[in-house]
Amino acid sequence: MAGSKEAAARHWRKEQVTHLTGAQWGDEGKGKGVDEASQFVDVVVRTNGGANAGHTIENEYGEFKNHLMPCGFANPDVLNVIGSHVVVDPIQLISELDDAEDRLPSSPQLVISSQAPLVMPWHGIKDGLREKGKGDASIGTTKKGIGDAYSDLALRDGFLVGHLLDPKFPEKFLRKAEDQNRQIRLLDGEMLVSELEELTPKQLERIVYQAKRKSYLDPEAELVKYLEAADRLGPMIGNTTTRVKEAYDDGKIILGEAGQAALLDITYGTYPYVTSSHPGVAGFSLSTGLHKVDRVIGTTKAYMTRVGGGPMPTELEDEMGEYLREKGREYGATTKRPRRTGWFDAVATKYGVQTAGITELMLTKSDILDELPFINLCVGYEIDGQQFSTMPDFSLSGMENVKPIYKTMKGWQKNTTAVRNFSDFPEEAKDYFNKIAELIGVPINVLSVGPERDAIVYRNGQ
Ligand code: GDP
Ligand code: IMO
Ligand code: MG
Repeated sequence: MAGSKEAAARHWRKEQVTHLTGAQWGDEGKGKGVDEASQFVDVVVRTNGGANAGHTIENEYGEFKNHLMPCGFANPDVLNVIGSHVVVDPIQLISELDDAEDRLPSSPQLVISSQAPLVMPWHGIKDGLREKGKGDASIGTTKKGIGDAYSDLALRDGFLVGHLLDPKFPEKFLRKAEDQNRQIRLLDGEMLVSELEELTPKQLERIVYQAKRKSYLDPEAELVKYLEAADRLGPMIGNTTTRVKEAYDDGKIILGEAGQAALLDITYGTYPYVTSSHPGVAGFSLSTGLHKVDRVIGTTKAYMTRVGGGPMPTELEDEMGEYLREKGREYGATTKRPRRTGWFDAVATKYGVQTAGITELMLTKSDILDELPFINLCVGYEIDGQQFSTMPDFSLSGMENVKPIYKTMKGWQKNTTAVRNFSDFPEEAKDYFNKIAELIGVPINVLSVGPERDAIVYRNGQ
Protein backbone atom coordinates (compact mmCIF):
# COMPACT_ATOMS: atom_id res chain seq x y z
CA MET A 1 0.00 0.00 0.00
CA ALA A 2 2.90 2.34 0.79
CA GLY A 3 3.99 1.87 -2.80
CA SER A 4 0.64 2.98 -4.16
CA LYS A 5 0.58 6.04 -1.87
CA GLU A 6 3.95 7.02 -3.28
CA ALA A 7 2.69 6.49 -6.81
CA ALA A 8 -0.36 8.62 -6.01
CA ALA A 9 1.73 11.44 -4.52
CA ARG A 10 4.05 11.34 -7.52
CA HIS A 11 1.07 11.60 -9.87
CA TRP A 12 -0.87 14.39 -8.13
CA ARG A 13 2.17 16.47 -7.16
CA LYS A 14 3.91 16.10 -10.53
CA GLU A 15 2.70 19.48 -11.82
CA GLN A 16 1.89 22.66 -9.91
CA VAL A 17 -1.37 23.47 -11.67
CA THR A 18 -3.71 20.73 -12.91
CA HIS A 19 -7.28 21.01 -14.10
CA LEU A 20 -9.48 17.91 -13.83
CA THR A 21 -12.55 17.77 -16.02
CA GLY A 22 -14.77 15.26 -17.81
CA ALA A 23 -14.02 14.29 -21.40
CA GLN A 24 -17.53 13.02 -22.21
CA TRP A 25 -21.07 14.02 -21.14
CA GLY A 26 -20.46 14.17 -17.38
CA ASP A 27 -20.49 11.75 -14.44
CA GLU A 28 -17.15 10.18 -15.37
CA GLY A 29 -15.90 10.07 -11.77
CA LYS A 30 -14.52 13.58 -11.25
CA GLY A 31 -15.58 13.51 -7.58
CA LYS A 32 -13.64 10.34 -6.95
CA GLY A 33 -10.57 11.72 -8.72
CA VAL A 34 -10.55 14.98 -6.76
CA ASP A 35 -11.18 13.24 -3.42
CA GLU A 36 -8.21 10.97 -4.06
CA ALA A 37 -6.07 13.93 -5.16
CA SER A 38 -7.08 15.95 -2.09
CA GLN A 39 -4.69 13.83 -0.01
CA PHE A 40 -1.79 15.29 -1.98
CA VAL A 41 -2.69 18.79 -3.23
CA ASP A 42 -2.95 22.13 -1.40
CA VAL A 43 -5.81 23.93 -3.15
CA VAL A 44 -8.95 22.62 -4.91
CA VAL A 45 -10.92 25.09 -7.05
CA ARG A 46 -14.39 24.28 -8.31
CA THR A 47 -14.36 25.98 -11.69
CA ASN A 48 -17.78 26.04 -13.37
CA GLY A 49 -21.44 25.10 -13.28
CA GLY A 50 -23.38 24.96 -10.05
CA ALA A 51 -25.67 22.57 -8.24
CA ASN A 52 -26.39 20.81 -11.55
CA ALA A 53 -23.22 18.82 -10.85
CA GLY A 54 -23.32 15.72 -8.66
CA HIS A 55 -19.89 14.47 -7.61
CA THR A 56 -19.83 11.19 -5.70
CA ILE A 57 -17.15 10.44 -3.16
CA GLU A 58 -16.63 7.26 -1.17
CA ASN A 59 -13.95 7.64 1.50
CA GLU A 60 -13.34 6.79 5.16
CA TYR A 61 -16.15 9.15 6.24
CA GLY A 62 -18.82 7.54 4.05
CA GLU A 63 -20.51 8.43 0.79
CA PHE A 64 -21.01 12.08 -0.19
CA LYS A 65 -22.74 13.65 -3.19
CA ASN A 66 -21.24 17.11 -3.58
CA HIS A 67 -23.06 19.54 -5.82
CA LEU A 68 -21.28 22.81 -5.03
CA MET A 69 -18.79 21.95 -2.30
CA PRO A 70 -15.34 21.30 -3.83
CA CYS A 71 -14.31 17.66 -3.37
CA GLY A 72 -11.11 18.57 -1.51
CA PHE A 73 -13.34 19.20 1.54
CA ALA A 74 -12.46 16.03 3.46
CA ASN A 75 -8.84 17.10 3.96
CA PRO A 76 -8.66 19.91 6.56
CA ASP A 77 -5.33 21.09 5.09
CA VAL A 78 -6.80 21.75 1.66
CA LEU A 79 -8.05 25.22 0.77
CA ASN A 80 -11.34 24.72 -1.10
CA VAL A 81 -12.24 27.53 -3.47
CA ILE A 82 -15.49 28.21 -5.30
CA GLY A 83 -14.29 30.19 -8.30
CA SER A 84 -15.76 33.13 -10.19
CA HIS A 85 -17.20 31.07 -13.09
CA VAL A 86 -19.36 28.96 -10.72
CA VAL A 87 -23.02 29.87 -10.17
CA VAL A 88 -23.69 29.63 -6.45
CA ASP A 89 -26.98 28.63 -4.85
CA PRO A 90 -26.27 29.71 -1.26
CA ILE A 91 -29.05 27.60 0.27
CA GLN A 92 -27.72 24.43 -1.39
CA LEU A 93 -24.16 25.29 -0.38
CA ILE A 94 -25.18 25.70 3.26
CA SER A 95 -26.89 22.29 3.28
CA GLU A 96 -23.64 20.72 2.01
CA LEU A 97 -21.62 22.66 4.54
CA ASP A 98 -23.91 21.42 7.34
CA ASP A 99 -23.58 17.84 6.12
CA ALA A 100 -19.79 18.14 5.90
CA GLU A 101 -19.57 19.62 9.41
CA ASP A 102 -21.74 16.79 10.79
CA ARG A 103 -19.78 13.99 9.20
CA LEU A 104 -16.17 15.16 8.93
CA PRO A 105 -13.80 15.51 11.90
CA SER A 106 -13.16 19.18 11.04
CA SER A 107 -14.90 21.91 9.03
CA PRO A 108 -13.69 22.29 5.46
CA GLN A 109 -11.59 25.35 4.66
CA LEU A 110 -13.77 27.15 2.12
CA VAL A 111 -13.59 30.48 0.29
CA ILE A 112 -16.19 31.66 -2.18
CA SER A 113 -15.57 34.17 -4.95
CA SER A 114 -17.45 37.42 -4.39
CA GLN A 115 -17.60 37.69 -8.20
CA ALA A 116 -19.43 34.38 -8.74
CA PRO A 117 -23.03 34.78 -9.98
CA LEU A 118 -25.66 34.05 -7.36
CA VAL A 119 -28.42 31.57 -8.17
CA MET A 120 -31.67 33.22 -7.10
CA PRO A 121 -34.94 31.55 -6.03
CA TRP A 122 -36.63 32.42 -9.31
CA HIS A 123 -33.93 30.86 -11.52
CA GLY A 124 -34.93 27.24 -10.88
CA ILE A 125 -38.65 28.02 -11.27
CA LYS A 126 -38.04 29.67 -14.65
CA ASP A 127 -35.75 26.84 -15.76
CA GLY A 128 -38.48 24.29 -14.97
CA LEU A 129 -41.23 26.26 -16.72
CA ARG A 130 -39.09 26.87 -19.80
CA GLU A 131 -38.33 23.16 -20.04
CA LYS A 132 -42.05 22.35 -19.70
CA GLY A 133 -42.88 24.89 -22.40
CA LYS A 134 -40.44 23.26 -24.81
CA GLY A 135 -42.23 19.90 -24.62
CA ASP A 136 -40.50 17.28 -26.78
CA ALA A 137 -37.73 19.76 -27.63
CA SER A 138 -36.71 20.21 -23.97
CA ILE A 139 -32.99 20.04 -23.17
CA GLY A 140 -33.53 17.88 -20.12
CA THR A 141 -31.84 20.36 -17.76
CA THR A 142 -31.45 19.65 -14.06
CA LYS A 143 -33.91 22.54 -13.36
CA LYS A 144 -31.41 24.09 -10.96
CA GLY A 145 -31.61 27.47 -12.71
CA ILE A 146 -28.11 27.22 -14.14
CA GLY A 147 -28.88 28.71 -17.55
CA ASP A 148 -30.94 31.46 -15.93
CA ALA A 149 -28.15 32.46 -13.56
CA TYR A 150 -25.59 32.65 -16.39
CA SER A 151 -28.13 34.52 -18.58
CA ASP A 152 -28.58 37.19 -15.92
CA LEU A 153 -24.80 37.58 -15.76
CA ALA A 154 -24.58 38.02 -19.54
CA LEU A 155 -27.45 40.53 -19.40
CA ARG A 156 -25.64 42.34 -16.58
CA ASP A 157 -28.82 42.07 -14.61
CA GLY A 158 -27.94 39.52 -11.96
CA PHE A 159 -26.70 39.32 -8.38
CA LEU A 160 -23.18 38.22 -7.48
CA VAL A 161 -22.17 36.38 -4.31
CA GLY A 162 -20.56 39.60 -2.98
CA HIS A 163 -23.92 41.39 -3.25
CA LEU A 164 -25.20 39.24 -0.36
CA LEU A 165 -23.17 41.58 1.86
CA ASP A 166 -24.51 44.82 0.35
CA PRO A 167 -26.70 46.72 2.90
CA LYS A 168 -29.08 47.48 0.02
CA PHE A 169 -29.44 43.75 -0.84
CA PRO A 170 -32.90 43.30 0.80
CA GLU A 171 -34.38 46.25 -1.09
CA LYS A 172 -32.86 45.15 -4.42
CA PHE A 173 -33.91 41.53 -3.84
CA LEU A 174 -37.57 42.42 -3.21
CA ARG A 175 -37.74 44.74 -6.22
CA LYS A 176 -36.29 42.08 -8.48
CA ALA A 177 -38.49 39.33 -6.99
CA GLU A 178 -41.67 41.28 -7.83
CA ASP A 179 -40.50 41.68 -11.40
CA GLN A 180 -39.58 38.00 -11.59
CA ASN A 181 -43.01 36.96 -10.31
CA ARG A 182 -44.53 38.73 -13.31
CA GLN A 183 -42.11 37.04 -15.70
CA ILE A 184 -42.81 33.66 -14.15
CA ARG A 185 -46.55 34.07 -14.63
CA LEU A 186 -45.95 34.91 -18.30
CA LEU A 187 -43.69 31.90 -18.73
CA ASP A 188 -46.38 29.74 -17.20
CA GLY A 189 -48.70 30.80 -20.02
CA GLU A 190 -50.67 33.55 -18.34
CA MET A 191 -53.10 34.77 -20.97
CA LEU A 192 -52.66 37.97 -22.96
CA VAL A 193 -55.20 40.77 -22.60
CA SER A 194 -56.31 40.19 -26.22
CA GLU A 195 -57.10 36.55 -25.38
CA LEU A 196 -58.94 37.55 -22.21
CA GLU A 197 -61.27 39.75 -24.25
CA GLU A 198 -62.69 36.62 -25.89
CA LEU A 199 -63.79 35.11 -22.60
CA THR A 200 -67.18 35.25 -20.88
CA PRO A 201 -67.36 37.08 -17.52
CA LYS A 202 -67.71 33.70 -15.79
CA GLN A 203 -64.55 32.31 -17.43
CA LEU A 204 -62.72 35.52 -16.56
CA GLU A 205 -63.78 35.31 -12.94
CA ARG A 206 -62.49 31.73 -12.78
CA ILE A 207 -59.10 32.65 -14.28
CA VAL A 208 -58.65 35.56 -11.85
CA TYR A 209 -59.60 33.25 -8.95
CA GLN A 210 -57.04 30.61 -10.03
CA ALA A 211 -54.28 33.16 -10.70
CA LYS A 212 -54.69 34.64 -7.23
CA ARG A 213 -54.38 31.24 -5.59
CA LYS A 214 -51.30 30.26 -7.57
CA SER A 215 -48.11 31.26 -5.82
CA TYR A 216 -44.71 30.62 -7.32
CA LEU A 217 -42.41 32.66 -5.22
CA ASP A 218 -42.81 34.20 -1.79
CA PRO A 219 -40.31 37.11 -1.92
CA GLU A 220 -40.33 37.84 1.83
CA ALA A 221 -39.78 34.20 2.82
CA GLU A 222 -37.01 33.77 0.24
CA LEU A 223 -35.32 36.96 1.39
CA VAL A 224 -35.15 35.64 4.96
CA LYS A 225 -33.33 32.53 3.70
CA TYR A 226 -30.87 34.61 1.67
CA LEU A 227 -30.12 36.91 4.60
CA GLU A 228 -29.44 33.89 6.81
CA ALA A 229 -27.14 32.59 4.07
CA ALA A 230 -25.34 35.96 3.99
CA ASP A 231 -24.64 35.69 7.74
CA ARG A 232 -23.37 32.15 7.50
CA LEU A 233 -21.32 32.46 4.29
CA GLY A 234 -20.21 36.08 4.80
CA PRO A 235 -16.85 35.26 6.43
CA MET A 236 -16.02 32.89 3.55
CA ILE A 237 -16.74 35.37 0.74
CA GLY A 238 -13.76 37.16 -0.75
CA ASN A 239 -11.37 37.78 -3.60
CA THR A 240 -10.47 34.22 -4.59
CA THR A 241 -8.34 35.40 -7.51
CA THR A 242 -5.88 36.91 -5.03
CA ARG A 243 -5.98 33.80 -2.81
CA VAL A 244 -5.22 31.50 -5.74
CA LYS A 245 -2.46 33.76 -7.06
CA GLU A 246 -0.82 33.90 -3.61
CA ALA A 247 -1.00 30.11 -3.36
CA TYR A 248 0.54 29.86 -6.82
CA ASP A 249 3.36 32.26 -5.95
CA ASP A 250 4.02 30.22 -2.77
CA GLY A 251 4.51 27.12 -4.93
CA LYS A 252 1.35 25.38 -3.70
CA ILE A 253 -0.15 22.54 -5.71
CA ILE A 254 -3.44 23.66 -7.26
CA LEU A 255 -6.16 21.42 -8.71
CA GLY A 256 -9.20 22.59 -10.69
CA GLU A 257 -12.41 20.57 -10.34
CA ALA A 258 -14.81 21.05 -13.24
CA GLY A 259 -18.52 20.53 -13.15
CA GLN A 260 -19.94 18.71 -16.20
CA ALA A 261 -17.69 17.82 -19.12
CA ALA A 262 -16.28 18.73 -22.51
CA LEU A 263 -19.24 17.62 -24.63
CA LEU A 264 -21.61 19.74 -22.49
CA ASP A 265 -19.52 22.92 -23.01
CA ILE A 266 -21.77 25.77 -24.18
CA THR A 267 -19.45 26.67 -27.07
CA TYR A 268 -17.98 23.33 -28.11
CA GLY A 269 -20.59 20.82 -26.95
CA THR A 270 -23.60 19.39 -28.73
CA TYR A 271 -25.55 22.69 -28.70
CA PRO A 272 -28.32 23.27 -27.68
CA TYR A 273 -28.11 20.09 -25.58
CA VAL A 274 -25.37 21.51 -23.38
CA THR A 275 -24.95 23.32 -20.10
CA SER A 276 -24.23 27.07 -19.87
CA SER A 277 -20.56 27.15 -18.85
CA HIS A 278 -17.05 26.02 -19.76
CA PRO A 279 -15.90 22.77 -18.11
CA GLY A 280 -12.58 22.71 -19.97
CA VAL A 281 -9.35 24.55 -19.34
CA ALA A 282 -11.07 27.85 -20.27
CA GLY A 283 -13.30 27.42 -17.20
CA PHE A 284 -10.22 27.09 -14.98
CA SER A 285 -8.89 30.38 -16.32
CA LEU A 286 -12.26 32.13 -15.98
CA SER A 287 -12.72 30.93 -12.43
CA THR A 288 -9.25 31.67 -11.09
CA GLY A 289 -7.83 34.46 -13.23
CA LEU A 290 -4.74 32.24 -13.32
CA HIS A 291 -3.83 31.52 -16.91
CA LYS A 292 -1.12 28.98 -16.23
CA VAL A 293 -2.18 25.35 -16.37
CA ASP A 294 0.44 22.63 -16.59
CA ARG A 295 -1.86 19.72 -17.40
CA VAL A 296 -5.52 18.86 -17.87
CA ILE A 297 -6.73 15.45 -16.75
CA GLY A 298 -9.84 14.18 -18.53
CA THR A 299 -11.83 11.70 -16.49
CA THR A 300 -13.32 9.31 -18.98
CA LYS A 301 -15.64 6.35 -18.52
CA ALA A 302 -14.75 3.09 -20.24
CA TYR A 303 -18.17 3.39 -21.95
CA MET A 304 -20.50 6.35 -22.56
CA THR A 305 -23.35 7.79 -20.51
CA ARG A 306 -25.50 10.87 -20.94
CA VAL A 307 -28.34 12.37 -18.90
CA GLY A 308 -30.92 14.54 -20.61
CA GLY A 309 -31.55 15.11 -24.34
CA GLY A 310 -29.20 15.40 -27.29
CA PRO A 311 -27.27 13.20 -29.67
CA MET A 312 -25.48 10.09 -28.46
CA PRO A 313 -24.34 8.06 -31.49
CA THR A 314 -23.38 4.88 -29.60
CA GLU A 315 -26.46 4.76 -27.35
CA LEU A 316 -27.65 1.21 -26.60
CA GLU A 317 -31.39 1.00 -26.15
CA ASP A 318 -31.31 -2.75 -25.66
CA GLU A 319 -30.38 -5.34 -23.04
CA MET A 320 -26.70 -4.38 -23.20
CA GLY A 321 -27.62 -0.75 -22.45
CA GLU A 322 -29.74 -1.91 -19.53
CA TYR A 323 -26.87 -4.13 -18.31
CA LEU A 324 -24.44 -1.18 -18.29
CA ARG A 325 -26.99 1.02 -16.50
CA GLU A 326 -27.68 -1.55 -13.76
CA LYS A 327 -24.12 -2.82 -13.26
CA GLY A 328 -22.72 0.74 -13.44
CA ARG A 329 -25.47 2.13 -11.19
CA GLU A 330 -26.04 4.76 -13.85
CA TYR A 331 -28.63 6.96 -12.19
CA GLY A 332 -28.05 10.74 -11.88
CA ALA A 333 -26.38 11.93 -8.66
CA THR A 334 -28.38 15.20 -8.87
CA THR A 335 -31.73 14.30 -10.43
CA LYS A 336 -31.78 10.48 -9.98
CA ARG A 337 -32.74 10.17 -13.67
CA PRO A 338 -31.60 6.97 -15.41
CA ARG A 339 -28.52 7.74 -17.49
CA ARG A 340 -28.48 6.76 -21.16
CA THR A 341 -25.69 4.24 -21.80
CA GLY A 342 -23.63 3.19 -24.81
CA TRP A 343 -20.29 1.87 -26.13
CA PHE A 344 -17.15 4.00 -25.82
CA ASP A 345 -17.22 6.65 -28.54
CA ALA A 346 -13.63 7.50 -29.50
CA VAL A 347 -14.73 10.16 -32.03
CA ALA A 348 -16.76 12.18 -29.51
CA THR A 349 -14.26 11.67 -26.69
CA LYS A 350 -11.32 12.71 -28.87
CA TYR A 351 -13.22 15.88 -29.77
CA GLY A 352 -13.91 16.49 -26.05
CA VAL A 353 -10.22 15.99 -25.27
CA GLN A 354 -9.23 18.48 -27.95
CA THR A 355 -11.74 21.19 -27.05
CA ALA A 356 -11.22 20.99 -23.27
CA GLY A 357 -7.43 21.05 -23.60
CA ILE A 358 -7.04 17.59 -22.04
CA THR A 359 -3.49 16.26 -21.97
CA GLU A 360 -4.02 12.88 -20.27
CA LEU A 361 -6.86 10.59 -19.16
CA MET A 362 -8.06 9.03 -15.94
CA LEU A 363 -10.09 6.05 -17.20
CA THR A 364 -12.89 4.99 -14.83
CA LYS A 365 -15.39 2.17 -14.46
CA SER A 366 -13.62 -0.38 -16.65
CA ASP A 367 -14.66 -2.84 -13.88
CA ILE A 368 -18.24 -2.52 -15.17
CA LEU A 369 -17.09 -4.30 -18.37
CA ASP A 370 -15.41 -7.16 -16.43
CA GLU A 371 -17.94 -9.85 -17.37
CA LEU A 372 -18.48 -9.02 -21.04
CA PRO A 373 -17.32 -11.54 -23.68
CA PHE A 374 -16.83 -8.74 -26.22
CA ILE A 375 -16.71 -4.95 -26.16
CA ASN A 376 -17.49 -2.59 -29.01
CA LEU A 377 -15.39 0.51 -29.48
CA CYS A 378 -16.65 3.22 -31.82
CA VAL A 379 -13.69 4.19 -34.03
CA GLY A 380 -15.52 6.29 -36.63
CA TYR A 381 -18.84 7.69 -37.83
CA GLU A 382 -20.67 7.03 -41.08
CA ILE A 383 -22.97 9.82 -42.24
CA ASP A 384 -24.86 9.44 -45.53
CA GLY A 385 -22.27 6.94 -46.79
CA GLN A 386 -19.29 9.14 -45.87
CA GLN A 387 -16.85 8.01 -43.17
CA PHE A 388 -15.34 10.23 -40.47
CA SER A 389 -12.64 9.45 -37.89
CA THR A 390 -12.83 12.93 -36.34
CA MET A 391 -15.89 14.92 -35.33
CA PRO A 392 -17.81 16.19 -38.35
CA ASP A 393 -19.50 19.62 -38.32
CA PHE A 394 -22.68 18.96 -36.37
CA SER A 395 -23.99 22.52 -36.06
CA LEU A 396 -26.87 21.99 -38.48
CA SER A 397 -27.58 18.27 -38.48
CA GLY A 398 -27.22 17.92 -34.71
CA MET A 399 -25.50 14.57 -35.46
CA GLU A 400 -28.87 13.01 -36.24
CA ASN A 401 -27.78 10.56 -38.93
CA VAL A 402 -24.56 9.25 -37.42
CA LYS A 403 -24.00 5.50 -37.73
CA PRO A 404 -21.15 4.37 -35.46
CA ILE A 405 -18.38 2.24 -36.97
CA TYR A 406 -17.30 -0.34 -34.39
CA LYS A 407 -14.14 -2.29 -33.73
CA THR A 408 -15.06 -5.33 -31.67
CA MET A 409 -12.56 -6.22 -28.96
CA LYS A 410 -12.33 -9.39 -26.89
CA GLY A 411 -13.54 -8.98 -23.31
CA TRP A 412 -11.33 -10.07 -20.39
CA GLN A 413 -14.05 -11.76 -18.33
CA LYS A 414 -12.10 -11.49 -15.07
CA ASN A 415 -12.78 -9.45 -11.95
CA THR A 416 -10.40 -6.49 -11.97
CA THR A 417 -11.66 -4.63 -8.90
CA ALA A 418 -8.65 -5.75 -6.84
CA VAL A 419 -6.04 -4.76 -9.44
CA ARG A 420 -3.64 -2.09 -8.11
CA ASN A 421 -0.72 -2.48 -10.55
CA PHE A 422 -1.18 -1.94 -14.26
CA SER A 423 0.79 -5.07 -15.07
CA ASP A 424 -1.84 -7.18 -13.23
CA PHE A 425 -4.66 -6.28 -15.63
CA PRO A 426 -5.62 -9.13 -17.99
CA GLU A 427 -4.02 -8.77 -21.45
CA GLU A 428 -7.41 -8.13 -23.11
CA ALA A 429 -8.05 -5.24 -20.69
CA LYS A 430 -4.63 -3.75 -21.46
CA ASP A 431 -5.40 -4.08 -25.19
CA TYR A 432 -8.68 -2.21 -24.68
CA PHE A 433 -7.02 0.60 -22.68
CA ASN A 434 -4.13 0.90 -25.13
CA LYS A 435 -6.52 1.06 -28.08
CA ILE A 436 -8.47 3.88 -26.39
CA ALA A 437 -5.26 5.84 -25.67
CA GLU A 438 -4.09 5.32 -29.25
CA LEU A 439 -7.41 6.51 -30.72
CA ILE A 440 -7.71 9.53 -28.41
CA GLY A 441 -4.06 10.50 -28.76
CA VAL A 442 -3.27 11.12 -25.06
CA PRO A 443 -2.00 8.66 -22.42
CA ILE A 444 -4.12 6.99 -19.73
CA ASN A 445 -2.12 7.67 -16.56
CA VAL A 446 -4.70 6.60 -13.95
CA LEU A 447 -7.35 3.86 -13.96
CA SER A 448 -10.23 3.54 -11.53
CA VAL A 449 -11.65 0.07 -10.87
CA GLY A 450 -14.32 0.75 -8.24
CA PRO A 451 -16.09 3.61 -6.49
CA GLU A 452 -13.98 3.51 -3.31
CA ARG A 453 -11.03 5.84 -2.86
CA ASP A 454 -8.39 3.11 -2.94
CA ALA A 455 -9.75 1.33 -6.06
CA ILE A 456 -7.22 3.10 -8.23
CA VAL A 457 -4.23 2.18 -10.38
CA TYR A 458 -1.39 4.59 -11.19
CA ARG A 459 0.51 3.89 -14.31
CA ASN A 460 3.59 6.03 -13.55
CA GLY A 461 5.28 4.86 -16.69
CA GLN A 462 4.11 1.18 -16.51
P1 GDP B 1 -18.82 12.91 -11.45
O1 GDP B 1 -20.01 13.76 -11.66
O2 GDP B 1 -17.87 12.93 -12.60
O3 GDP B 1 -18.12 13.17 -10.15
O4 GDP B 1 -19.35 11.40 -11.38
P2 GDP B 1 -20.66 10.90 -10.58
O5 GDP B 1 -20.36 10.87 -9.13
O6 GDP B 1 -21.86 11.63 -11.03
O7 GDP B 1 -20.81 9.44 -11.18
C1 GDP B 1 -19.80 8.48 -11.10
C2 GDP B 1 -20.35 7.25 -10.37
O8 GDP B 1 -19.48 6.17 -10.58
C3 GDP B 1 -20.43 7.44 -8.88
O9 GDP B 1 -21.50 6.68 -8.38
C4 GDP B 1 -19.09 6.87 -8.39
O10 GDP B 1 -19.15 6.38 -7.06
C5 GDP B 1 -18.90 5.74 -9.35
N1 GDP B 1 -17.52 5.43 -9.71
C6 GDP B 1 -16.47 6.27 -9.91
N2 GDP B 1 -15.39 5.58 -10.36
C7 GDP B 1 -15.77 4.29 -10.44
C8 GDP B 1 -15.14 3.09 -10.89
O11 GDP B 1 -13.98 3.08 -11.32
N3 GDP B 1 -15.86 1.94 -10.84
C9 GDP B 1 -17.15 1.90 -10.40
N4 GDP B 1 -17.79 0.73 -10.39
N5 GDP B 1 -17.79 3.02 -9.98
C10 GDP B 1 -17.11 4.18 -10.02
P1 IMO C 1 -21.42 16.39 -13.30
O1 IMO C 1 -20.52 17.50 -12.81
C1 IMO C 1 -24.19 14.99 -16.35
C2 IMO C 1 -26.74 18.01 -18.25
C3 IMO C 1 -28.23 17.96 -17.99
C4 IMO C 1 -28.76 18.49 -19.30
C5 IMO C 1 -27.74 19.56 -19.67
C6 IMO C 1 -28.16 20.97 -19.28
O2 IMO C 1 -22.03 15.60 -12.22
O3 IMO C 1 -20.73 15.57 -14.35
P2 IMO C 1 -28.28 22.25 -16.93
O4 IMO C 1 -29.03 21.91 -15.67
O5 IMO C 1 -26.81 22.31 -16.76
O6 IMO C 1 -28.82 23.46 -17.62
O7 IMO C 1 -28.59 21.01 -17.92
O8 IMO C 1 -26.54 19.23 -18.98
N1 IMO C 1 -25.88 18.08 -17.05
C7 IMO C 1 -25.15 17.06 -16.60
N2 IMO C 1 -25.05 15.77 -17.03
N3 IMO C 1 -23.43 15.40 -15.34
C8 IMO C 1 -23.49 16.69 -14.91
O9 IMO C 1 -22.65 17.19 -13.98
C9 IMO C 1 -24.41 17.57 -15.51
N4 IMO C 1 -24.75 18.87 -15.32
C10 IMO C 1 -25.64 19.17 -16.27
O10 IMO C 1 -28.64 16.64 -17.73
O11 IMO C 1 -28.70 17.48 -20.28
MG1 MG D 1 -22.10 13.63 -11.63
